[in-house]
Parts: sequence; C-alpha cells; structure tokens
Amino acid sequence: MAEKIRVLLTEEEVDRKIQEIGEQISKDYAGKQVHLVCVLKGGSFFMCELAKRISVPVSLDFMSVSSYGSETKSSGIVKIVKDLDEPLKDKDVIVIEDIVDSGRTLSYLLEMLKDRGPKSLRLCTLLDKPERRVVDVKVDYTGFQIPDEFVVGYGLDYDQKYRNLPYIGVVELDG
Ligand code: IMP
Ligand code: MG
Repeated sequence: MAEKIRVLLTEEEVDRKIQEIGEQISKDYAGKQVHLVCVLKGGSFFMCELAKRISVPVSLDFMSVSSYGSETKSSGIVKIVKDLDEPLKDKDVIVIEDIVDSGRTLSYLLEMLKDRGPKSLRLCTLLDKPERRVVDVKVDYTGFQIPDEFVVGYGLDYDQKYRNLPYIGVVELDG
C-alpha cells in the first residue's frame, strides 16, 4: 500500500514557531542554564533546532523509551531503552518531545524524572493532539495544536520513515 503525504505545517511555519519558543525559553530562563532532555528519536530534530535559538547556556542529554504497544497506540508502560548520561539533580530541566498524543508516555516519564530531583521540570512539545488525551499532562511550551491525524516529519515517523521531512505532513493511505 502506497501512502501520500499532505503538508500540514510548512517548513517556514515550523521554523518560525521554533524561533518563538526559543525566544520565550530564553526569557523565562534568563540568568539560568537550561538542561534539555530529548526523547529519542522523534524529539531530536526539534531539540537541535530549538537549542540553536536559545540564548541562555544550554546543556543536552538524550533518552530513549519504548512504550509497550504499537507505534500508533501506546500502553503507558514505558521501558527505558537508553537512560540519560547525566543526573538531573538541581538542574532546570526541559523535556523535549515531538508530540503529545494520549499523554501516557509523558506522564509516566515526567513522574520518573521528577524523582531524580531536578530544580525545575518543564515539558516542551512541538505538536499536541489535545483531542486524543487520555492522561492529563501539563505542557509548558507547545508549538502547534493539531487535529487527530497521524503526522510525520520533523522527527516523527511512519514505520521509521519520513523523520527527515523538513515540514509536518499527514499520512494519507491509498490503494
Ligand atoms: P502518547 O503516550 O500516546 O502521548 O505517545 C506519544 C508518542 O506516540 C509520540 O512520542 C510518538 O512517538 C507517537 N505518536 C503519537 N502520535 C503520532 C503521530 O501522529 N505521528 C507519529 N508518531 C506519533
Ligand atoms: Mg516520541
């Protein structure tokens, strides 16, 4: 079955939004250092672009989790596949995600990271599908709220494809 990608958010729109979020974070964390925690793989493109637009000192770390269940439906039980290299103790941490969907992965992850004693812990996501929320998650920085459609690009995949698209598109199946 072939699939087509319909553009939902252009490269320019995404870039402009990331610039805005970067400026907001730079203001909110003036005089501090931020520690960005990227949830691999989807969050990586967004984190790199965002980090370049933050003007306060930035440190980075990466973690990889797998939620049991299919890629399109998470169960909420999260396994750490790759843990962070650095402790979070006393750091101003921002978790960087590609998308918040049901919220299950993130609510589990945030609880776990909170236990590591960061000075502060916030969540920044490029995309949010509020209609799909099952578990309440407080999102501090959101790029775009989007309808309940399966999207790819800017780190998001469909069967591991399309992460490299410089825009956000909706997958349309035909055939
Ligand atoms: P949640 O636990 O349901 O919020 O799961 C969020 C994760 O599901 C994201 O980090 C993505 O990996 C994946 N996901 C949810 N919606 C989409 C989508 O539209 N496209 C690609 N991946 C998605
Ligand atoms: Mg993800």
